[in-house]
Amino acid sequence: MLSNNNSSQQQTEFNLVQVNGTWIRNSQHCQQAEGRSSAAKIYENKSDHGLSWTVVSPIVFTYRVIQCKNILDARNDTLLWGHLGDQKLKDTISNSKPVKRFVVIDETVNQLYGSQVTQYFEARTVVHKILPLPTTEENKCMELVTKILEEVHSFGIDRRSEPIIAIGGGVCLDVVGLAASLYRRRTPYIRVPTTLLSYIDASVGAKTGVNFAGGKNKLGSYIPPVATFLDRSFIQTLPQRQISNGMAEMLKMALMKHRGLFELLEAEGGTLLQSKLQSCESSERSEQEDSATASTRIAIETMLEELAPNLWEDDLDRLVDFGHLISPELEMSVLPALLHGEAVNIDMSLMVYVAQQRGLLTAEEKARIIQCMLGLQLPVWHQDCTLALVQKALSERLKHSAGSLRMPLPTGLGSAEIFHDMSEDILCKAYCKWTDELSSSGNK
Ligand SMILES: NC(=O)c1ccc[n+]([C@@H]2O[C@H](COP(=O)([O-])OP(=O)(O)OC[C@H]3O[C@@H](n4cnc5c(N)ncnc54)[C@H](O)[C@@H]3O)[C@@H](O)[C@H]2O)c1
Repeated sequence: MLSNNNSSQQQTEFNLVQVNGTWIRNSQHCQQAEGRSSAAKIYENKSDHGLSWTVVSPIVFTYRVIQCKNILDARNDTLLWGHLGDQKLKDTISNSKPVKRFVVIDETVNQLYGSQVTQYFEARTVVHKILPLPTTEENKCMELVTKILEEVHSFGIDRRSEPIIAIGGGVCLDVVGLAASLYRRRTPYIRVPTTLLSYIDASVGAKTGVNFAGGKNKLGSYIPPVATFLDRSFIQTLPQRQISNGMAEMLKMALMKHRGLFELLEAEGGTLLQSKLQSCESSERSEQEDSATASTRIAIETMLEELAPNLWEDDLDRLVDFGHLISPELEMSVLPALLHGEAVNIDMSLMVYVAQQRGLLTAEEKARIIQCMLGLQLPVWHQDCTLALVQKALSERLKHSAGSLRMPLPTGLGSAEIFHDMSEDILCKAYCKWTDELSSSGNK
């Protein structure tokens, strides 16, 4: 029994042990039972005001991110069973009843790959329903979530063994993730990203969401998929602009924490764009990793390093927020003129000027970064990104991040720190220089 300084308060810590199917409280000082123990604890507090309990229950999420080729080839098991690490479990499930899958697919992706998806499930004799939806940014709202939920409900799935599959860009993955996190409180789901942006960003973390009340991703959850399957061949059919869009998130990771990736993008960004990040056959056979494989791998590894320890964003100091302070405001205010990654890049470009104004970057480093952005065919300035919008976005940020700006800024090429303040003087000077030097680069 622990006594606080105040003698009228007492706290007792209990562990939980399961004996013959029943959970029993074991106090720290009196271990009454032996059995399977839980990581959860119950703290019992007695005070003059009465009795209270505090529950501490750690929740562990396990999810797999798997790079694969030919995911829609019927001989490939990944789409059906890749989420299970365990062959025995797969055999038990597939032998016990007909396999069933509910698939939500972006409408455009369905036009391009829908027949292959159908052929895959038919060849594997899977009972399936494929729901194509117009998962665009303008439609990213609760109506789409409700539509998915109604269809899932009427199709009927076993929420333990039949994950919902999302095939599409970041919007599709976010919307399906939210629907799955709501259906029967949490139904497993699988992400199959088909855009570069969703391949390296939206698919590897835990966040789901839709836009609400004019705000970007204002409704959502932190529920990761059971698995993400990454097949780069989908990217071949993306328009070039969408590839540049994804490159912005890759450049973010390079600037924040990987100089090697920055140098790769600086030297080969244009070639990567042109090849749509596809490896040529000879490089696929060679032992040495080609640039497309290396750049996507590093982007995912660095992203996972930053996300895994902070899946629920309890720690608000997040390097991956670079480019995401002003961009949500800008993206929503000009919708659909700017793509997500384009708005992120405009934000990063301004922040590079702020970093230089603060003495964190040299003029040469700043110039190299802007040149790299232009090489990736990303916009570096936008007429609607006014100083008033920037100030409003930063004051919103201040409101929602526990009284501190928590602003990631580059401190070199491939290194960064979180800063908690922003002087008005530095912001105005950086903004003016940014506009003077880059406004002629035009809006994209
Ligand atoms: N959850 C997260 O952590 C996270 C992270 C980053 C971004 N996001 C979200 O992701 C969204 C942006 O994702 P996006 O850039 O993938 O946009 P998107 O989902 O709107 O897709 C872009 C366009 O590409 C088309 N498309 C998709 N795959 C294609 C293919 N293989 N070939 C041809 N066309 C294809 C789509 O129909 C769409 O028109 C934003 O809503 C953003 O909030 C979420």
